[in-house]
Amino acid sequence: EIAEKVDSVMQKMTLTDKVGEMTQLSIDMISEGQPYNLDEPHQLSDEKLKEVLVENRVGSILNVGGHAYTAEHWREIIRKIQEVAMNEKPTGIPVIYGIDTIHGANYTLGSTLFPQQIAIAATWDPQFAYRGAEVGAYETRASYIPWAFSPVLDIGRDARWPRLWETFGEDVHLAKQMGAAMVEGYQGEDAGGPYHVAATMKHFLGYSLPITGKDRTQAWIPERQLREYVLPTFKAAVESGALTVMINSGEMNGIPVHTNKDILTGLLRDELGFEGIAVSDWEDIIYLQSRHKVAKTYKEAIELAVNAGVDMSMVPLDLQFPKLLKELVEEGRVSMDRIDEAVRRILTVKFKLNLFDTPYYDEGMYDKFGSEEFAKDSYDAAVEAVTLLKNNNDILPLSKDSRILVTGPNAHSLTALNGGWSRTWQGTDPQYDTEGKPTVLEALRSRMGESSVSYVEGTSIDSVINIDEAVTAAGNNDVAVVVVGESPYTEKPGDLTDLWLPEAQRNLVEAIAETGTPVIMVLVEGRPRIVSDIEPKTEAVLMGYLPGDEGGNAIADILLGDANPSGKLPITYPRYPNDLVTYDHNYTDQIDPFFGTNAFNPQWEFGHGLSYTTFEYSNMQIESSEFDAAGQTTVSVDVTNTGEHSGKEVVQLYASDLVASITPAVKRLRKFEKIQLDAGETKTVTFTLMPEDLAFVGRDNEWITEAGEFALHIGPLSETIVYKY
Ligand code: IFM
Repeated sequence: EIAEKVDSVMQKMTLTDKVGEMTQLSIDMISEGQPYNLDEPHQLSDEKLKEVLVENRVGSILNVGGHAYTAEHWREIIRKIQEVAMNEKPTGIPVIYGIDTIHGANYTLGSTLFPQQIAIAATWDPQFAYRGAEVGAYETRASYIPWAFSPVLDIGRDARWPRLWETFGEDVHLAKQMGAAMVEGYQGEDAGGPYHVAATMKHFLGYSLPITGKDRTQAWIPERQLREYVLPTFKAAVESGALTVMINSGEMNGIPVHTNKDILTGLLRDELGFEGIAVSDWEDIIYLQSRHKVAKTYKEAIELAVNAGVDMSMVPLDLQFPKLLKELVEEGRVSMDRIDEAVRRILTVKFKLNLFDTPYYDEGMYDKFGSEEFAKDSYDAAVEAVTLLKNNNDILPLSKDSRILVTGPNAHSLTALNGGWSRTWQGTDPQYDTEGKPTVLEALRSRMGESSVSYVEGTSIDSVINIDEAVTAAGNNDVAVVVVGESPYTEKPGDLTDLWLPEAQRNLVEAIAETGTPVIMVLVEGRPRIVSDIEPKTEAVLMGYLPGDEGGNAIADILLGDANPSGKLPITYPRYPNDLVTYDHNYTDQIDPFFGTNAFNPQWEFGHGLSYTTFEYSNMQIESSEFDAAGQTTVSVDVTNTGEHSGKEVVQLYASDLVASITPAVKRLRKFEKIQLDAGETKTVTFTLMPEDLAFVGRDNEWITEAGEFALHIGPLSETIVYKY
């Protein structure tokens, strides 16, 4: 039915209408004043609205960048845009407005900010990915916006990369489950309903593995690695029905992805069967000429990109795109079929979002916006994310009678808890540090009383402020909670020259430890900054990641034992900047028998995370220790809570292919389940293993399960099984 509606709209469209539909401009282009004016909120300009929407037939607008608005302000903006598009543009086609809903509708004041994706991955429970996206969709639609540029499905296998925290970490199996859940949470059963939006698979393909670790620098990814580690999350998201995809800004194997037809058409369309919109990233067609140097002119760049499979250009400050694309069609350099294909995809998504009938729903339908209910969901996710990495002599939880010194640059910062894409692009605007959600310091004070919790800033992220004062204060307290890490960033501004935690912060931890007052180090950071010199001086370490608006509450409750930690690392936490090796490395990355060098030498391993209770694994059973291509087997294990508190445990099943035709990984995560156990309780967890659960991408770049022996590991237990053809 939608196909017929699309056809009937397309029949009336001219070439100008069509190239306009393929154009996405920034809100700056329809606002008063200069682009990138971050001082003033956007005020729409009637004149520019006419020029962009009516004369140039632009079909999509995006973003905001430097401002956060109230939901009312957003509604006014979108209402006006749709009025002009639908009443004054000859085709009457509504605009599709897209925005970076990343961990909630973060550009709308008062919206609910969830933990960032890396923290969601640390919960090891996809229901949080689903719920975070569902709440994000609700509040995005409440802002009258129907398209979220999320989730990031790039695999987070390089600790240096400034967008690591936007990923679900290093493991393909975990990231696949989380990514698919997030797409489903955004889109629901019907993305056109009042509480759902279109999701965007970002960034297709190979964006997260630049050789230098710096954003948008070249990546070289062999096909086997691409298929094994990079593609599966996207494949799973396509199967979950994702409606749109955003293309990788970078270049892979010497080819800018925006010009790579094998990737954008061969892999994405012909192989994965994706039917939605492929939108470029920011100005990326322009960059084909100006940065990548694969086109002499902008026009040639457009030709390359559109012919490779880009359906919509996020220009975003330039009306040249539709004009030049029209010329390319008239000159026969881009075919009309290719234009029709792109426009058909765009209109189909617009119909699926119900924009033709209801470009926005009644504002009265959103009474849960910014509600306590949503905040509780965000809190629950944060509590399950925070990961206890070390706890000498059970120093945590702290007694509520303790006198605590709180110090460190992230102890009293809400923006640090939220990271980038929070109210603004970089998330650094200090005015959002006072939004009413508690910092770690405030949360501790509200639970323990002002007089039990003293505070000295100690350092900023990079410089000493008053370490001496912090040292003096440490002497008057029973324990020091030192909250260190990073300030917010995303994309290029987050590029690093050094993965160590900045020296000033390491000096702070060291100086406090020297007083003899036990140090609890809390890490609030988007990527694992190296702490190997100071870690031995601490008594406990808590990884907070970027836990969102409720992070202060979650961290305080865990420190004080009102919540039991259950997060597990979704990344390997490296010990040294040169040892950036993932858990699923090969044997040659492990200790060399002659020279003793070891590339895999993590501070904390992927999957690691402690609890205030203890779990014991026993009775590992395999239904049939031999199975073949037509079969399956089940693996079960008993898990007992042998401690005194109820708690959650993530039961992780890893498989090691003992001998394979390509060098096998030492182990791969194949299954996991998070369970809740009361003190003394035992539960049996059963996993079903299919042949594909033991597969890898073989020499011919196809997935294969080879006959042979596999060791299966759950907790401290291992068993061997045999797979036969
Ligand atoms: O969605 C983002 C993308 O992740 C990075 N470049 C800009 C886009 C739109 O803001």
